Amino acid sequence: MVGIDIENIERFKNLSQHLIARVYTINEINYCQSRSNSHIHFAGIWCAKEAVVKALNDLSLTVSEIEILHKPSGAPYINITPKLQQYFESKNIKNIHISISHTDTVATSIAMIEK
Ligand SMILES: CC(C)(COP(=O)(O)OP(=O)(O)OC[C@H]1O[C@@H](n2cnc3c(N)ncnc32)[C@H](O)[C@@H]1OP(=O)(O)O)[C@@H](O)C(=O)NCCC(=O)NCCS
Repeated sequence: MVGIDIENIERFKNLSQHLIARVYTINEINYCQSRSNSHIHFAGIWCAKEAVVKALNDLSLTVSEIEILHKPSGAPYINITPKLQQYFESKNIKNIHISISHTDTVATSIAMIEK
């Protein structure tokens, strides 16, 4: 099971604080805001969340419950919170792998479920 998303980065310029707080976790916000052109990274993380939702084909997780973190290498991964771990166990999911890419104008992400 895989999911993919692609977004115009322009949409992520000037996001309202309200929307940012509703969609992104504190860790995600800190990551994006620590980078120049933070909107590019907000777009990439958004794509990753959407790709995960598509791969799961299930709307029972909210986008803010799908937290995208980064390893020291820069590689993105899903933070397996206790709630997500419980969800994974209920669906027999071992992990979800994601990859993000962007240009100056477009961001994309793919997610793949490991069972
Ligand atoms: C990591 C790397 C592959 C990113 O590629 P890029 O073309 O610069 O950038 P992309 O737009 O495709 O990807 C950027 C995203 O890759 C992800 N990423 C960063 N480092 C990563 C890593 N080590 N592994 C996997 N994904 C990584 C991040 O999600 C990043 O977006 P984000 O910071 O908004 O989350 C590249 O910078 C790199 O280090 N390559 C090393 C291999 C190399 O030297 N190849 C050249 C062969 S000639």
